[in-house]
Amino acid sequence: MASFSLIVLISVSFTVFLSVSAEDARVSTADLSSSGQAMKHRKNFTYVCDPERYKHLGLNVLKFSFCDSSLSYSTRAKDLVRRMTLAEKVRQLGNKAYGVPRLGLPKYEWWSEALHGVSKIGPGTFFDTVVPGATSFPTVVLLAATFNESLWKNIGQVVSTEARAMYNLGRAGLTFWSPNINVVCRELCPRTPGRGGSRIRVQPGRTPPQDCDSIQVMVDNHKYLQDTKEDAVARTLKAGEYAMLLSSVYIQGKVQVKDIDTSLEYLYIVLMRLGYFDGNRAYDKLGKDNICTDENIELAAQAAREGIVLLKNNKTLPLSTNKIRKIAVVGPHANATFPMIGNYAGIPCRYVTAIEGFSKYAKVIYRIGCDVTCKNESLIWPAVRAAKEADATIIVAGLDLSVEAEGLDREDLLLPGYQTQLIQQ
Ligand SMILES: *[C@@H]1O[C@H](CO)[C@@H](O)[C@H](O)[C@H]1NC(C)=O
Ligand SMILES: *[C@@H]1O[C@H](CO)[C@@H](O)[C@H](O)[C@H]1NC(C)=O
Ligand SMILES: *[C@@H]1O[C@H](CO)[C@@H](O)[C@H](O)[C@H]1NC(C)=O
Ligand SMILES: *[C@@H]1O[C@H](CO)[C@@H](O)[C@H](O)[C@H]1NC(C)=O
Ligand SMILES: *[C@@H]1O[C@H](CO)[C@@H](O)[C@H](O)[C@H]1NC(C)=O
Repeated sequence: MASFSLIVLISVSFTVFLSVSAEDARVSTADLSSSGQAMKHRKNFTYVCDPERYKHLGLNVLKFSFCDSSLSYSTRAKDLVRRMTLAEKVRQLGNKAYGVPRLGLPKYEWWSEALHGVSKIGPGTFFDTVVPGATSFPTVVLLAATFNESLWKNIGQVVSTEARAMYNLGRAGLTFWSPNINVVCRELCPRTPGRGGSRIRVQPGRTPPQDCDSIQVMVDNHKYLQDTKEDAVARTLKAGEYAMLLSSVYIQGKVQVKDIDTSLEYLYIVLMRLGYFDGNRAYDKLGKDNICTDENIELAAQAAREGIVLLKNNKTLPLSTNKIRKIAVVGPHANATFPMIGNYAGIPCRYVTAIEGFSKYAKVIYRIGCDVTCKNESLIWPAVRAAKEADATIIVAGLDLSVEAEGLDREDLLLPGYQTQLIQQ
C-alpha cells in the first residue's frame, strides 16, 4: 500500500556559478606540458626557477631577472616578457602556451576546469589510475539554492586543494576556468559584499571574455559589434584581460606590442603568485591523500542536503525505518549515476544511486516507470503496481543533458514525455 510519495527532481543546468579567487582559496595553477611524453616527466618538474633544472646543460636559470625572487612579480614578469620575440609572445597567448625553451619557460596549458569539483573538461586535467576521481559537488543550481556563503567558500577550498594535489601529481593545471552566469545581466545578478568570502564574480558593465572560446563566440554568435576575428582579438586584449584564444591570428596593426606585453605580464604574475616559478612549500606536499577524503565527500553530502528544496511536507517526512519496511524506488533516475554529476564534471570518487542509498534502510523494489524522454506509458503500470505493494514510494524523476545542456535549450519547463503522468499515477 503506497501511503505517500517523495519526488526528487534532478535538474541539470550550468548557468550560475561561483568562483573563488586564488588569493582567498588557494585556487592554483600550472603544468609543465600537456603532451603525453612531457606529462610522464612531469613528476620531476619542480618549478621554473629551480636552479637544478638545467644544471646539466650548464644553464643557471637564476641568472634571469625573472627568476630573482627578491624582485616584485610585476618586475619579474616584465623581464620575462621583454626577453621574448614577438613570435614567441604570440605563441603564449592561446589556452595552450607553448613556452620558450631558450628561456627555460615550459609549456603551460591554461585550460583546466573546476565548476563543482575538478572537472575533466579541458586538456589541462585528466584522471587515470594515479588520480581516479575527485570530489564531485552538487551541480551549481543546487549549490546556489543553499544560499550559504561559508559553505561555498569551504567547497572552493576543497576544490582548490584537490586541484593543487592533482597539479602536484601532474594531473592538472594550476589555473581553472568555470562557466559563469551571463555577466550582462546587471541588476539581476547577485553581488556578494565583503572580502574574504567566495564571490560570485559579476562585474556589471565590464564583461571581458577570458574563456577558451569566447573570442570565437563574440564573432560567430554575439555579432554585437560586427567584428572580424582580428577586431575581436584586438578588443579583447585592449580590455586588459587575457586573450586565451589567439590561435594563429596575427594582429594586423589593430594591436600594439605593448598590449600583448601587458596581457602576458598579467598571465605570468598569476603563475608567479601560484608558485609556478618559485615553488610553493605550503602546498607542495598535497597529494593523493588530500583527494576524495571522507571530509570532502561529507562536505559534498552536506551541500546536497542544504541545497535540496522541500516544497511540501504534510507530516510525511521523516520516514520511520520502523514503519517503512518496503520502498518502491521509481523513475528514470532511480538508478542514475552519470546524470547526477551534470556538466563540467570530473570523475566522482564514487556514485551512490537512490536504489543503493535506500537499500540501507529498507527493502527496495525498483521499477524504472519511465526513461528520461518517456515517450509512452508502457512502463508506468509496473511502477504503479510496485508502489501499491510498498509502504512508501520514492520517485526520482527529471532531466538529463540530452534534454537541456549548454548549447541545448529546453523546449518547455515541463518534465519530459509522460514523466508527469508517472508521478500522478
Ligand atoms: C625522475 O628522476 C629520476 C632521477 O633523476 C629518474 O630516474 C626518473 O626516471 C625520473 N622520472 C620521470 C618520470 O621522469
Ligand atoms: C552553512 O555552511 C556552514 C559551513 O559549511 C555550516 O557550518 C552551516 O551550518 C551552514 N548553514 C546553514 C544555515 O545550513
Ligand atoms: C495534509 O494531509 C491531510 C491528511 O491526508 C489532509 O486532510 C490535508 O488536507 C493535507 N494538508 C495539505 C495542506 O495538503
Ligand atoms: C543500475 O545500473 C547499473 C548500470 O549502471 C546496472 O549494472 C545495475 O544492474 C542497475 N541496477 C538495477 C537494480 O537495475
Ligand atoms: C515504449 O517505450 C519503451 C521504453 O522506451 C520501449 O521499449 C517500447 O518499445 C515503447 N513502446 C511503444 C509502443 O512505442
